[in-house]
Amino acid sequence: MNSFISEVVVQSPGRINFIGGHLDYNGGHVLPAAMNQKITLKFRKNDSHMCNVASSLMESDFKVDLNNLVKTDTQWHNFIIGVLFHINILKPGLLKGFDCVIESDLALGAGLSSSAALECGLAKGVNELFEIGLTETEIIKLSRDTEHTFIGTKCGIMDQLTIIKGKKDHLLFLNCETLAYDLIKIDFKPYVIVLLNSNVSHNLANSAYNKRRDECSVALTIINKKYPYYKFLSKVPLEILNEFKHILTDEIYHRALYVIEENIRSINAVGYLKKHDFINFGNCLYQAHYGLQQHYEVSCEELDFLVKLTEGLDYVLGSRMMGGGFGGCTINIVHSNHVDQFIMRTTGAYRKTFNRELSSIITTIDDGASIV
Ligand code: GLA
Repeated sequence: MNSFISEVVVQSPGRINFIGGHLDYNGGHVLPAAMNQKITLKFRKNDSHMCNVASSLMESDFKVDLNNLVKTDTQWHNFIIGVLFHINILKPGLLKGFDCVIESDLALGAGLSSSAALECGLAKGVNELFEIGLTETEIIKLSRDTEHTFIGTKCGIMDQLTIIKGKKDHLLFLNCETLAYDLIKIDFKPYVIVLLNSNVSHNLANSAYNKRRDECSVALTIINKKYPYYKFLSKVPLEILNEFKHILTDEIYHRALYVIEENIRSINAVGYLKKHDFINFGNCLYQAHYGLQQHYEVSCEELDFLVKLTEGLDYVLGSRMMGGGFGGCTINIVHSNHVDQFIMRTTGAYRKTFNRELSSIITTIDDGASIV
């Protein structure tokens, strides 16, 4: 599809998140932003009922019949088919055949929400192409539903919401209970955001993610027997959790402890940020990592190694694992004068320890998905 003449082009970004890991499905506060690394989707109508999708990312293409939108064995096809399926439920009959070419400078499977970027970008693109009339909220929710139904990840809503609502140079301080958010204008100068991609993706990531969600719901169900008014685990006060310390299993107690502490930390971190206290903000990132490592247990030795490496570096403000966990990236706030040194040092040490390559991504905060 080299000479592809498009009618609609969408750029859909990845997302970073500074703090509030795994809080979205626990109704807590998170602090994500859209990145300047993006997936580009080009669309044209083809006057049929077939959708032809070509991806330089996957080095493959495939066809899907709008009259037969069912799950397949190929995961990336399911992102596409799932979105089309959910659009068809919301707005029956408005979707028609189209050709789509997908390109990307966003790393895949690195915990940067490339799947949500693809889903939201596709939904936004066909919505524009066929004037379907989906609202942003519908795009966000149907992309999330695709993960639940076609992919099997019971994710929260942070990624999709950020990808649609993100704003250049702003963080979203999002309350996942109400979905209300404040846009916080941010200028980290002289610091920059450096992501270190461990290039590890553990097989259990999906099932372990869903297991954490179940564990949180077990904790809340038990607490709700005595305190029925807490709708989300992140809102339960620590003193109340501690009343249940001997009733909950050790594992479940630690999951809940992390969620409750992280929500408090996330709110405190934003307080520091608003006062331009980057040192304490950075410390919150370290504490968040230790919580994810020790209580929530979604880190892995590669991520722990990368965070630990930064602890003694005075030009790094903060570092933590990001995304679902069990691989993917760490997010680091690094002084701009030392970025090259930082990358050289971490890459060398990582190679020596794990015999594996580290990739680094310097990112800036950009707008959410847009028609270009
Ligand atoms: C993944 C999920 C999100 C969120 C993060 C962890 O990116 O898609 O909903 O739970 O993990 O913060």
